[in-house]
Amino acid sequence: MLGRVNHIAIAVPDLASAVAAYRDTLGADVSAPQSLPEHGVTVVFVELPNTKVELLEPLGADSPIAAFLEKSPSGGMHHICYEVADIITARDRLISAGARVLGNGEPKIGAHGKPVLFLHPKDFFGTLIELEQV
Ligand code: CO
Repeated sequence: MLGRVNHIAIAVPDLASAVAAYRDTLGADVSAPQSLPEHGVTVVFVELPNTKVELLEPLGADSPIAAFLEKSPSGGMHHICYEVADIITARDRLISAGARVLGNGEPKIGAHGKPVLFLHPKDFFGTLIELEQV
């Protein structure tokens, strides 16, 4: 069911300084910031030869990454995104296997303009999983 790793996401308290670290210190290509109000984050993508790193900064009062950054104020790995061919088929299979899908269970449009869902980290060894249909 799982395809490639689409991206690994890191929550950061200050996107501008994270961009500077990845672009200037690590020498990576970093996209322009993109605000995603429906997801409560502003993101950039670090383009790598084999995958991407997504840097996330909270956006708005009830950002879903605010609590994460309270526990990890300097930032930390937030989720891993796997590609799937059909997100509804994947979701239904996961639900019938007892996994919990976050939110209302319906895919939202993610940063790449494609449908995404998140799976409860307690069902997957403490790791928040994002599925993206590609
Ligand atoms: Co993501």
